[in-house]
Parts: sequence; structure tokens; C-alpha cells
Amino acid sequence: RSELMDKIASLCKRRGFIFQDSEIYGGQNGFWDYGPLGTELKRNVREAWWQDMIARHDPLDAPEGAPHAFQMVGVETTIIMNPQVWKASGHFDLFVDKMVDCKAAKKRYRHDHVYGRWITGKRKSKEGESDPIRVFVTAVGDKPEIEAQALAFFGLKKKYADRLEWESDVINLTEIPVEDYGIVVAPEATETGTLTAPRDFNLMFKTIIGALGTVEDTAYLRPETAQGIFVNFKNVVDSSRVKLPLGICQVGKSFRNEITPRHFTFRSREFEQMEIEFFCSPDESQEWYTYWRNRRYSWYIELGIPEEKLILREHHKDELAHYSVGTADIEYAFPFLIEGEYGELEGVAHRGDFDLRSHMEGKLKATDEGTLEVELNEHGQPKYRGSGKDLTYFDDQTRERFIPHVVEPSAGADRATLAFICEAYHEDKQPDDKGNMQTRVVMKFHPRLAPIKAAVFPLVKKDGQPEKAKEVFRSLKSAGLNVTYDEQGAIGRRYRRQDEIGTPWCITIDGDTLEQGTVTIRDRDSLEQVLVKVEDVTDEILRRLR
Ligand code: GAP
Repeated sequence: RSELMDKIASLCKRRGFIFQDSEIYGGQNGFWDYGPLGTELKRNVREAWWQDMIARHDPLDAPEGAPHAFQMVGVETTIIMNPQVWKASGHFDLFVDKMVDCKAAKKRYRHDHVYGRWITGKRKSKEGESDPIRVFVTAVGDKPEIEAQALAFFGLKKKYADRLEWESDVINLTEIPVEDYGIVVAPEATETGTLTAPRDFNLMFKTIIGALGTVEDTAYLRPETAQGIFVNFKNVVDSSRVKLPLGICQVGKSFRNEITPRHFTFRSREFEQMEIEFFCSPDESQEWYTYWRNRRYSWYIELGIPEEKLILREHHKDELAHYSVGTADIEYAFPFLIEGEYGELEGVAHRGDFDLRSHMEGKLKATDEGTLEVELNEHGQPKYRGSGKDLTYFDDQTRERFIPHVVEPSAGADRATLAFICEAYHEDKQPDDKGNMQTRVVMKFHPRLAPIKAAVFPLVKKDGQPEKAKEVFRSLKSAGLNVTYDEQGAIGRRYRRQDEIGTPWCITIDGDTLEQGTVTIRDRDSLEQVLVKVEDVTDEILRRLR
């Protein structure tokens, strides 16, 4: 599986999907750039989301599975918001990961990413063999990585692995008592090292507003787009003649100072979210939660993720945030994970009235009875003030006023893009121009997502074929389609180039085009070739894309 991921990552670089950020300066951990094809692909992912959730949404009729009709609108809010937002929302105090410092390796790790095993063995060195020692060997990763660390620590070659006594199976470091940290063998180090006790690390990136740069000028890059929606709820309702149930949507960059960015773009420090905050009456919120969970799951299936690789994982009660009645993650079997493991693409959370109440009253905290109340400071005042604005909603049909409940389907644009890339990657055997069987790499993107929709080729560079092919190319372009023109090399090689970047259709102009007015359209997946009248090509491609 990791070999497959290496092939995918190398294709991404070779063909211009994804590059390491600032690569000529050695890159930056957790930051990625999109090349020409990756940019088109990611735009198509965002566009598919926007079209399916907002632009094509019919507010007059209930879609299948929905309790009744509803409205969907979009907003675009700032990355740097008033810092009070993050205090009231809880991010200032609570948006933290547990972090451990490894003194020997001089590195920081996310506490729940460090795994280990208890191991006993004799250490081999130039001076000879030590008495048996018992250590807890850690690594950021699972079994093979821990075992490699252990062998390095004990100075053994792989074939002598059986000289070690593996006392326990893989344990997450979070399960090890803090007092045992002193006998931890550091990841990436061959010396016995120590890991500091876990401590909280706030993931928000800080910045400074204005020229003075004092502590009071500290602001934060948003770690989620959601808060921009909550603080504009009243503005949207007052300005747009919208009624509940109502979805307010936003696509935009978010920033998290992740302790261990990893798995290509999967966990980055700068990424993009596609979030819906769906406001509804408390009585209906459970039904809407079920609706959105199922609808968002189906969205990935419609765009080509097979059901057997996509799970809807309902959170266990212990995993739920204190305000949440239910949360489900939509997870995909990414190839960088071991068999049976899944990585989160999107979370669908029932957030109750937590967010709007926080922005009205101030930062909330859960009581022992499980209710929410404003957290107070030592003077009995709210620890962090809310806006004090009335964010309730008046339903003019039921004549009731209430704080809306929120269902939040929150997706990552980069994670979805990565999943579509992983899923698209295929290899098969096809004959080349000389009839020899060759491995073909083909990216089977859903046509809506494919960066380039069609490629136009004149079979030969003479007999008026290039001129005719350019006419077809321009007709497709003027219909707003991202298409490419290629007259270089044998036709088989031109097909391969397009297969490797996932172009669904190749259109060839040949002698018959000039004599009989037909072109051939070749399908990337079935390899079927059909004849179409030259004047119908653009309509045919548009029809296939619908
Ligand atoms: N407003 C809720 C929220 O932000 P989240 O589960 O923290 O929830 C939602 O994030 C989605 O954003 C995730 O499912 C994932 O797709 C994406 N995401 C979160 N952190 C990310 C990171 N470090 N790199 C890439 N995508 C990330």
C-alpha cells in the first residue's frame, strides 16, 4: 500500500498536481502547492461541492430524504477575525493537542501519534554486550517502525530480531503513565531518550494587527471557516429574506499549527475547508442530522469513491464534544493507512445551540449535569464575553422564538482532492503503437472532476487536419470547457499522456473528418471509439459531462 502511495505522490509531482511548498528552498513541513493540473482538479472539487450544495439546490421542494424544503446560501468571511470570536467559541482555551517533546531526537510529536512496545534485550556495541535492559521503544508510526527503532537501539541486524523479547503489543503512548516516560527510547534516536510529559499546545497560528505589535494586538488565523458563519448568522437572516431551515455555506482557507503534519496533504498546516452550518429548529435537528449525514456520504460515492472504501463512522458517546448530540465521520481507506484503517474526509456534527449561544452569552462550559453554562472568572464575571447581541430566531408561522440548533457537515477540500487522486490511480496493460503490451497509468477521475475534459489531436500534421482540429478545439473552449490540443508524437503516446492525467475523452481528427465530416471520440476507461459529426462534438462532450 505504501508503494502505491509513493507512485501516486511521484505522479502528482511529475505531472504537476501537487508540489512541496517553497521546494527550491528545501520545502516546509505541512505546506503544499498545487500545480496547473492540481489547481484545476481542486477547483473542480470545490465547484462540484458548491454546485451540488448551493447553486443547483432547489429551495422549493424537499430533496429525497429531507424532512422538508430548505434554503442554502453562501458567505465569504475573513481569515483574521476579531480575537474575541476565538475566546467566546472556546478555541482560545481548548483548541489544543497534547504534545510531547523528545529530548534525544529534539523533535515534537503529537501525543496520540506516538506508539511503542515494551522490549527486553541485550544491547550490542563495540564494547560488547550489556546486561538485559527493558525499554519502551517508541516511533511515530506502527509496528515495523517501532521494530526498526528497537533493532537500531539494541545494535542488532534484522535477522537477529528474535534475540529481543517483545513484551507487549503496540501501545499508544497516551496509555503509558507519565512517570514511565524516563525509560522511553526516542524515535529516530539510537540513544535512550526521554519524552517530556504531555502538555497542551494551541493549534492556532498567531499574527499581529497594526504597527505597534504589542500583546494586545495579537490576532489568529482562523482554524475553521465555521466561526465566520456563526458571527454572520444575524446579518444573513436580516438581509436575505431567508427562513429556517437554512444552510449557510463557506469555502476557504483554514490554518492549524499541526504538531505532526503527515501523509502528503492529508494533515497540512494550511488547508481548505468546505463547511455548511445548517440552522434549524431544535425539534427537527435530529432529523436534519440524519439527513445531512446520509447526503454527504452519498456525495463522495456519486463522484467516484466506491462504497467499500468509504465508511460513515458514528462517534461513540465518549468521543463526542460535550455539546454534541451526535457526530459521524465520513472516512476513506487512504492507501497510506494500513488495511482496515480509514482517514477522515468530513465530520458531520450535531452542535445543538452551542455556537450561537456562545456568541450571545460568552464562552460556555459543561456542568456536571451535562448542561451548558457561561464559564465565570474569579470575579464571577463571564471568563470570555460573548457579543451580547440577540442571535435568536423568530418563527413567524409557529410564533416561537428560539436559538437555532446547528448541524454542521464540515469537509476538507484538500482531503477530498487527495482521496479522488488516490481512487483515480489505476494501472493496466495496453498495446503501444507497435502492438507491444505496456503498463498504462490511467487516472480514472469522474469527468466532472477531471482537470482537462478533452484533448484534441490531428492524426497527422498535414492535409488540413491541424486546421480542422484547431476549429474543434476552439469550439470546445468557447463552450467554457478546459480542453487541450496536442499534435506532437505518435497517436498512442498522445493517448497515454492524457490517460495519465485523467482526461476522459480524446478527439481525433483524421482523413475522414475532411472527407465525411466525422471525428472519433475515444473513451479513457472503456477505450471505446465512436464516430461523431464534427459539428456535434461540443454538444456531445457537454452532454457527457451533464
Ligand atoms: N468546524 C468543524 C471543523 O473544523 P474538523 O473535523 O476539525 O471540524 C473538518 O475539520 C475537516 O477539515 C476535516 O474532516 C478535514 O477534512 C479537514 N481538516 C481538518 N484539519 C485538517 C488538516 N490539518 N489538513 C487538512 N485537512 C484538514
